[in-house]
Amino acid sequence: MSDDNKDTAGSPEPSESARGRVIGTPSPARDKALLAEGDISAPAGAGEQLDEAAAKRAERVVAAFFLLAFLGSVAFIAYYIGWSGRHGGMHGVTRARESNFWLGGTMALSFLALAVGVTIWVRRLMTSKPIVQERHSLAADEETRAGFTKDFLEGADDSGITKRPLLRRTLLLAAAPLGLAPLVLLRDLGPLPEKRLRSTFWAQAVEEAHKQGKKGVRLVVDGTNKPLKVSDFAAPGSMITVLPEGIEEHVPEEQVLTQTAKAVTILINIPEDEFKPAKGRENWHVNGIVAYSKICTHVGCPAALYEQTTHHILCPCHQSTFDATDAAKVIFGPAARALPQLPLAVEDGYLVATSDYHEPIGPSFWERG
Ligand code: FES
Repeated sequence: MSDDNKDTAGSPEPSESARGRVIGTPSPARDKALLAEGDISAPAGAGEQLDEAAAKRAERVVAAFFLLAFLGSVAFIAYYIGWSGRHGGMHGVTRARESNFWLGGTMALSFLALAVGVTIWVRRLMTSKPIVQERHSLAADEETRAGFTKDFLEGADDSGITKRPLLRRTLLLAAAPLGLAPLVLLRDLGPLPEKRLRSTFWAQAVEEAHKQGKKGVRLVVDGTNKPLKVSDFAAPGSMITVLPEGIEEHVPEEQVLTQTAKAVTILINIPEDEFKPAKGRENWHVNGIVAYSKICTHVGCPAALYEQTTHHILCPCHQSTFDATDAAKVIFGPAARALPQLPLAVEDGYLVATSDYHEPIGPSFWERG
């Protein structure tokens, strides 16, 4: 019988030639045999047969996870191509949410399966031996740097780039458009918002109301859609979220969520003696009842917390604080401008908005755009 055959039969002391040869995926026990003598701790013989079978099983499990990762990636690409082909980009919150779910889900599945596979591979199929790596200085020594400088200058001189301005300039000209190539990727951010972020559904609703000879559009309570009377909101210190009436009837179904998110407004009843109407906005409130956009001007979280005693509106995301008594000016935090204010009036006892916000709602970026 040859040395190799003896090793296959489970000899406790494999020969030198057998130790040096690895065919296929070595078992953990065999890996240990490749270590230095002092590191061998796994039992051989019958134990090795058991480890080999376990290693095969682990190998199949790892392969299954890698296959799953592959399928996740293929699903990601297929969905992206199919989805952007169908919709030509991102439109509306509903479609964005759908694409986030599928793109995020397939990518997460792919990375998760890959990570699980690699983890099982490392834990079940690899030995754990201490590895020591010495740290070396990363900087090259003086001699290497001097050699590099010399070679570089010689190369530059040899190329004639300093002596041949025509070549130098045309090379720069050829390379310039490549620097702009990343701009093409910006297309994937979706269509330009143009004027769409400058107005909200309040504008459309008020226009409709004016056509019908009304003063403005009624405010309805978010959640119940009940029009709000001044008498229903008489307690100073209260705060409520409102929307324009008729949003669901007047916008296409897929736009309802987007338009609602943009038009969402907080209504606050401030004691009149504490309220300081801003210049030019003296008639925008009703007995201290004032309306501000609920979308924080920092990065757009809902500024949904209200402190009754201080009349501060707080955004929970990064703690921007706005003074409700003073045109919702910023008194703390990263927001760069006040919350836009909605002009209010009373019609037949109901609170109405007489126009849209006079400035864009949401993050300050859009105001500059
Ligand atoms: S989004 Fe409101 S403070 Fe940042």
